[in-house]
Amino acid sequence: MEFKTQIGKDINHAAEILQGGGIVGIPTETVYGLAGNALNEDAVLKIFKAKNRPFFDPLIVHTHAIPEISRYVKHVPERLLPLMERFMPGPLTVLLPRTTAIPDLVTSGLERVAFRIPNHPVALELLRSMDFPLAAPSANPFGYISPTRAQHILAQLGGIIPYILDGGECGIGIESTIVGMEGDAIVVYRLGGLSIEQIEQIAGEVTIQDHSTSDPAGPGMLESHYAPRKPMILGDIDTLLDEYRGRKIAVLSFCKKYDADWSYILSPEGDIDVAAKRLFAGMRELDATDADLIIAESLPDGGLGRAVNDRLRRAAATPKP
Ligand code: TXA
Ligand code: MG
Repeated sequence: MEFKTQIGKDINHAAEILQGGGIVGIPTETVYGLAGNALNEDAVLKIFKAKNRPFFDPLIVHTHAIPEISRYVKHVPERLLPLMERFMPGPLTVLLPRTTAIPDLVTSGLERVAFRIPNHPVALELLRSMDFPLAAPSANPFGYISPTRAQHILAQLGGIIPYILDGGECGIGIESTIVGMEGDAIVVYRLGGLSIEQIEQIAGEVTIQDHSTSDPAGPGMLESHYAPRKPMILGDIDTLLDEYRGRKIAVLSFCKKYDADWSYILSPEGDIDVAAKRLFAGMRELDATDADLIIAESLPDGGLGRAVNDRLRRAAATPKP
């Protein structure tokens, strides 16, 4: 244990650590990030090390205004501008051609850098108070479930980082949607907290790129990800309860209550946005039980349901029991 990790609301304290080249857990409206000075390779190295993250998986850079982004990229494609103006700050990440101001380590050597402006008052105040942008992946050990509360970070990175800036529970609860251009087309590389419907309303039709496991140089979407330690199985809950009868089962359901040893209902009212917001906390809660396995069901596919289903599918891509 290198640090006695503190949780607090002191933005100045977080800024001091960051200015000194240290790393800090920070709130955003999607998930909590593990932040360091994006222009300082030592700070960026600390992030990779704390998360045990492979260097081929690049980091998102956070700032507080579109003109700030322009300082670090060669240009902003015209088709992306309306999206950026509408959803920054917000759960949108854009891939843009970088200048050499952004270290190779941040982009894993890729020519584009990912930028995002988080829509969270604490994060924005922190970012405005500094004269450098913050590289910040989700603040979880590599491959595990993203944190949506300060306590989630403490549970995993306690002792490893000095400070967690507490901004309450994340309002959206699922990572940002990542977009970029390929030729004239807008491509969505990761489904996330900004729905496809919202994007297409502003930008017209977009292409959704199916992520592959074998291409880590693509926007790092490994098949097994966001995963609990316990095996998780996705399907029809009644059928699976039957199939695994006799095992200790935890059920993660959308709105119905099932008869199981442990159960977490994402949204009793059947509200997809609420379900997205509670998804990762629910996965964590069930992962901490004595169950042998977690059984889960998909959500309806519209709005954020699509991104939630993507996360559930990845969480379930671990070996079956
Ligand atoms: O909502 C979010 O995006 C959160 C908060 C903290 O901002 N961050 C987050 O970061 O989810 P992370 O590192 O867990 O996921 C970022 C994803 C990775 O899968 C990475 O491969 C991809 O973004 N990415 C980052 N930079 C990239 C780049 N230059 N080119 C392609 N993909 C990139
Ligand atoms: Mg992550």
